[in-house]
Amino acid sequence: MGKIEQRLLIAGNWKMHKGVKEAMEFARELRTRLGEVNGREVVVFPPFTSLPAVAEVLKGSAVAYGAQNVFWEKSGAFTGEISPVFLTELGCRYVLIGHSERRRLLGETDEMCSRKMRAALENGLRPILCCGETLVERNQGKTLTVLAVQLAGGLARVPTPAGFDIAYEPVWAIGTGVNATPEQVQEVHRWIRHWLVERGLAEGVRIVYGGSVKPDNIGAILSQPDVAGVLVGGASLEVTAFIQIVNSQVRKPGGDVCS
Ligand code: PGA
Repeated sequence: MGKIEQRLLIAGNWKMHKGVKEAMEFARELRTRLGEVNGREVVVFPPFTSLPAVAEVLKGSAVAYGAQNVFWEKSGAFTGEISPVFLTELGCRYVLIGHSERRRLLGETDEMCSRKMRAALENGLRPILCCGETLVERNQGKTLTVLAVQLAGGLARVPTPAGFDIAYEPVWAIGTGVNATPEQVQEVHRWIRHWLVERGLAEGVRIVYGGSVKPDNIGAILSQPDVAGVLVGGASLEVTAFIQIVNSQVRKPGGDVCS
């Protein structure tokens, strides 16, 4: 079973930004300026080619790192793919699975996500399964139906109990500057939590929110009772903004620790 992780997760998804030089500069500055982080787990997700350099800089620091994708086999004739073994070799702790950009632009399916989830878990990585509805789906009242399909599909091969997290990222909120309201986030997170509980999958799982998270909306989002962290894209690319997000004030019933 994976380790139960209770700290709030503050993750930066760099997407296809920051080559080796820029990534190293960012990691150095983050390490120096962030210092000790109490009660929160900070993770960055650089592009594959920048990962070894970032790993070198962040080794022994409070900041963890992970990959934006992984393949489901350990080795073989899979041109262009990256093995989970290569990621653990680099000291990655996390991997993102099924980000909406991969689903939309690269045809990633729930079945593929499910294979990747299992491979990540079997190789000692902590996967973060990304899910979320489009604006059309939300407007048609299909949000929870879409999420149920993505969760059932993506988690189909996950052993119980396992060590993974879920990122709720409404597609309409990603990179648009329009974040889901704290109430919308809470409503969906509570529903996901129940969905997981009913299937015996909830133990140790954090449900984090992603989609236009910024220093000025992080406090209200993180203060929702069922929000256990955030996955930040655009605002994680700038060190000062990311540090503000990491150090944001949270008023949670029962304190900073998530259940
Ligand atoms: P954003 O991206 O913060 O730029 O909206 C979030 C994500 O895609 O993980």
